[in-house]
Amino acid sequence: MSIIKNDFEKMNITKIKKSKNNKKLTVITAYDALFAKLFKNIADMILVGDSLNMSFAGKPDTLSATLDQMIYHTNAVCNGASDAFVIMDMPFGTYNNKKEALENAVKVYAQTKAAAIKVEGGKDRAEIIEYLTKNSIAVMGHIGLMPQYVRSEGGYKVRGKTKEDKEKLIKDALAVEKAGAFAIVIEGTMSDVAKEISQAVKIPTIGIGAGKDTDGQVLVWSDMLGFFEEFKPKFVRHYLDGAALVKEAVGKYRNDVQDSTFPAKEEEY
Ligand code: KIV
Repeated sequence: MSIIKNDFEKMNITKIKKSKNNKKLTVITAYDALFAKLFKNIADMILVGDSLNMSFAGKPDTLSATLDQMIYHTNAVCNGASDAFVIMDMPFGTYNNKKEALENAVKVYAQTKAAAIKVEGGKDRAEIIEYLTKNSIAVMGHIGLMPQYVRSEGGYKVRGKTKEDKEKLIKDALAVEKAGAFAIVIEGTMSDVAKEISQAVKIPTIGIGAGKDTDGQVLVWSDMLGFFEEFKPKFVRHYLDGAALVKEAVGKYRNDVQDSTFPAKEEEY
């Protein structure tokens, strides 16, 4: 496998598909223009994940995210990173059947500059994915641990621990690929199983908590930059201690306000 380590290159569906076995894809989430602008020209794709409902909106899970909320954040991200390949997560309950899924996806394309949408589900959602892709919607799949299934599954459970589950996941991936998805997120899955899935499909797999053998990685920006303090999943690497840095900076600001060293003469009109 020749893995190119190159600088940023603007992505499109063709390049994403061609990257399989050539270049590891770097994906990061973003929820606003400010951060999207910082990530553009570094990450290959920016995902407006419905995880924003937790880390941005402070909700306990992703289930209450709405289409309008996702569209609002996707527009902000596209405004900040107009050249980036932006993917919008379809929120829970917006793609329960083919008709509804297409209507909502068309609304996303009409109201944002998102290049693609992401939907959770395997074989159970393959027909819906096929209907979307046949109607010119670019779809990224999402299998393994699927946060939108948290209540029906009774929690967030690592996938692929048994032979049966491994076989199910491989079937899910193949069904999503056959339905026309251009890539698949594999979340919270045993690394050896994610490797087998990645070898079984011809489209790139993007792992999160799925080991190193997927075709790319995705991390939630607020996790990897250390802003989300509630908990740190095992698979997250902190590349910055964002929370501590922010608290230290705001503390210094407060001290400067209290001892009247802010604003200084040069900061006055
Ligand atoms: O919502 C999200 O941020 C996601 C990633 C974890 C892949 O779906």
